[in-house]
Amino acid sequence: MKDHYSFLTPFYNRLTKLVFGDQLMLAKTCFSENLAGEKVLIIGGGDGLDYQVFKDQLAGEYWEISRSMLQKAEANLKESRLSFRLGYFQAEKEKVFDEVWLHFVLDTMLDEEIISLLGEIRNSIKPDGRIYLADFFAPKNAIQRGLHRSMITFFRIVVNHKRASIPDYEEILLSQEWTKNSEKEFLKGWVKAQIWRL
Ligand SMILES: C[S@@+](CC[C@H](N)C(=O)[O-])C[C@H]1O[C@@H](n2cnc3c(N)ncnc32)[C@H](O)[C@@H]1O
Repeated sequence: MKDHYSFLTPFYNRLTKLVFGDQLMLAKTCFSENLAGEKVLIIGGGDGLDYQVFKDQLAGEYWEISRSMLQKAEANLKESRLSFRLGYFQAEKEKVFDEVWLHFVLDTMLDEEIISLLGEIRNSIKPDGRIYLADFFAPKNAIQRGLHRSMITFFRIVVNHKRASIPDYEEILLSQEWTKNSEKEFLKGWVKAQIWRL
């Protein structure tokens, strides 16, 4: 599997902090208050640096398709009880999770990939399980629109990003019978953190 992120991995986190400060980290962590006893599935978690605050409480699985990101995450979260897996997540019999974290990963996928991933998640989540989504939504003003266009162009060139638009996460999740329970907005609503249940 080609690692499209290998060039970006060493400075990905610093770059996002330079552009967005702590806002993306806050969107990723705002709902994660009580992780003790929770079995977490993290898909496309990147270098895992923003999860270090609760590394001692993290248990479950961490899936990445970038080898370089996965290696960094393994080093950054070595005190956790996560197992680190390279590749595309697939449901496994009798393996179920309380929480699934999808942080800034769905915006890199085509609609049909998102639908297929949601199917795997449905087969891997407890009846009261939750998806924690954090991602970019429609930009709210001209500056955000300009920045968003530049980001998409940058990611299409540097990491072979397949999309030129933002997925309609809500339409897709609703069509797959997920229900939104909570939402917090960051950067005037350009970034949202949401909790979804079946
Ligand atoms: C834009 S980066 C975001 C990384 C991290 N979640 C963050 O917020 O800093 C997207 C990450 O998702 C990973 N990724 C993309 N599609 C994936 C998939 N289907 N399964 C697992 N990881 C995936 C990429 O390798 C990359 O590390």
